[in-house]
Amino acid sequence: MIVLNDVTYKYDDSRRAALDNVSLRIERGDWISIVGANGSGKSTLVKLLMGILETYEGDVSINGIKVTEENTRALHKNFSIVLQNPDNQFVGATVEDDVAFSLENLEVPREEMLEIVDTVLQEVGMLEYKKHEPSRLSGGQKQRIAIASALATDPDVLILDEATSMLDPQGRRDVLKLVQAVHKKRKTTIIYVTHDLTEVFRSDAVIVMNQGQVRLKGSVDTIYSNPHILEENNLVLPFEIKISTALLNQSIMSYAKLVRKL
Ligand SMILES: Nc1ncnc2c1ncn2[C@@H]1O[C@H](COP(=O)(O)OP(=O)(O)OP(=O)(O)O)[C@@H](O)[C@H]1O
Ligand SMILES: [Mg+2]
Repeated sequence: MIVLNDVTYKYDDSRRAALDNVSLRIERGDWISIVGANGSGKSTLVKLLMGILETYEGDVSINGIKVTEENTRALHKNFSIVLQNPDNQFVGATVEDDVAFSLENLEVPREEMLEIVDTVLQEVGMLEYKKHEPSRLSGGQKQRIAIASALATDPDVLILDEATSMLDPQGRRDVLKLVQAVHKKRKTTIIYVTHDLTEVFRSDAVIVMNQGQVRLKGSVDTIYSNPHILEENNLVLPFEIKISTALLNQSIMSYAKLVRKL
């Protein structure tokens, strides 16, 4: 469980807080989506969760232990992250080297390492590409490899910071499906940052951020049925979600009435 208590963070050269009194509770195994307009503080929150922000106000605790300068490395050891740009996350010359790299620092014996690499590549549906050069893969395939690398260390928490935003629709669907499969199989806590409100439907809770603050936290239904709160926070509910929410809310409705409601 991750608990944030009144966390405020300012970047050195900034007057405005990038995180402004954020309090949150993330239960183990939950899938939490974080949405918000550009500059609302999503990636700063992600950095805090990865343990790479120093000198913030407030408290963070992980599994009941307060994070301090001394224990931060140990407490965040089981957190993995996948970033936005598929081209910026490769270190290995081949897919298998790349996935193995995340294990090398952990001094995993070679035999075991090879086994883990095959297992995670299988899990993301990329085993047959293990000898390929990462640079020659499609964006969606690259992100699947990035997820495999993230999973190699068997993380408790998997954070994805707009991991689908540079992909084509098929790539997006594939990555989202894969995250669903990982969540179901491994019970990993998922923290899923996105701009795309159609991607949050699997979450246990959605957090809406604006100007460094948590403006709304609720179930997917709560988020989808409060379009005006989303708009106040510079987010727009996609048309297809407006339609389906309206249909669900009122199963017998004439088309004209429906359109008027939208
Ligand atoms: N390294 C930095 N130095 C100074 N200010 C920063 C830095 N990184 C982010 N900021 C500022 O902090 C605020 C929050 O930025 P952050 O990157 O967390 O937003 P975001 O929600 O992830 O945005 P985006 O959707 O564009 O990724 C913004 O005002 C941004 O300009
Ligand atoms: Mg960001």
